[in-house]
Amino acid sequence: MQPCRYSEIVSSEIFKPRNIIVTGGCGFIGANFVRYVARNHPDVHITVLDKLTYAGNPQNIAGLPQSQVELVQGDICDAALLERIVPGHDAIVHFAAESHNDNSIANPEPFITTNVEGTFHLLEAARKYDVRFHHISTDEVYGDLALDDPRRFTESTPYKPSSPYSASKAASDQLVRAWVRTYDLRATISNCSNNYGPYQHVEKFIPRQITSIMEGVRPKLYGTGENVRDWIHTEDHSSAVWEILTRGRIGETYLIGADGEMSNIAVMRMILRLMGCAEDAFDWVCDRPGHDRRYAIDSNKLRTELGWRPVHTDFEAGLQATIAWYAANRAWWEPAKAATEARYRAQGQ
Ligand code: NAD
Ligand code: TYD
Repeated sequence: MQPCRYSEIVSSEIFKPRNIIVTGGCGFIGANFVRYVARNHPDVHITVLDKLTYAGNPQNIAGLPQSQVELVQGDICDAALLERIVPGHDAIVHFAAESHNDNSIANPEPFITTNVEGTFHLLEAARKYDVRFHHISTDEVYGDLALDDPRRFTESTPYKPSSPYSASKAASDQLVRAWVRTYDLRATISNCSNNYGPYQHVEKFIPRQITSIMEGVRPKLYGTGENVRDWIHTEDHSSAVWEILTRGRIGETYLIGADGEMSNIAVMRMILRLMGCAEDAFDWVCDRPGHDRRYAIDSNKLRTELGWRPVHTDFEAGLQATIAWYAANRAWWEPAKAATEARYRAQGQ
């Protein structure tokens, strides 16, 4: 008997969205996804639903055709707004979140409101109007791995979140699963590793260091710098989400990763070298409380079942292009830089 091939199972069930809602489409990953869909699927209309918090910027989707991309400024917790905009759409791709660990440690409340309650309201709207739902999540729901652990996270790794951020994302994932099982919601979930690329807020590790160096300020490394993150270019995240949305199996979770494990100190040294600085021209600062040691993704299910492959596999080249983007877009990041650094200073970081 021939072994059963996943790709044959799913290829008969291709979902062809025409009119999608992208929540958080003015944030880093959401905006890159909107741009990806606009470029590759010009027949798909995109309604971006975004509250425009400190992390959301309409410039992130500027220049896209107005006939294809519409921005609705609003809160995913606003059930009355969802009642107005969800009908008529055939899918919700849910990126909106409070997304920064350090902020969640300083003030967890908005993480519970947006990430947990907001996801609940979207699920209820998707259920009522029978809209397909794709939930964007993080590998951080699995907690961390020891630096020398040969294992990586898979779809069956138990949940063990460490921070208020990752706990709120874990809660939202479980809500999606419950809505699939109890109400037959047509939903999928993806858990991705750390993204980098253009339009990432200056609070995050890579843009913070790049923009500090551009301002003549020494970049800051937490703790020992040995912590490992598994980097993926945001464009590869976008292509994976599109594959899962259109060809993924309902109720399934897919891990997204590009085999990009690297210690923070190695990334820091690479940034400094690429920017023409000495590799030790950084400051050590106090560690993040509860700092996860290592994330590592096994994306074998996504690769074998849906045939997805990352394209941006040369991390150094991707980092160089990202540095060039921040150099060319100072007007985009400069307004957020001072307030972000003031927040870090207050935390001793
Ligand atoms: P981001 O902080 O850059 O953007 C979040 C966006 O959501 C912003 O545009 C913000 O205005 C919007 N938003 C926040 N609260 C909202 C609300 N209540 N209603 C409507 N809009 C709201 O985040 P990001 O880094 O682009 O992350 C996007 C998603 O990807 C999140 O769900 C995050 O958990 C997930 N994720 C991020 C990474 C990463 O490396 N950044 C990795 C894996 C998964
Ligand atoms: P971050 O971009 O906040 O992503 P996450 O917490 O979701 O992994 O941080 C990536 C890593 O970089 C994390 O181990 C914390 C570390 N870090 C620093 O060493 N210095 C910094 O200034 C920042 C913001 C993060």
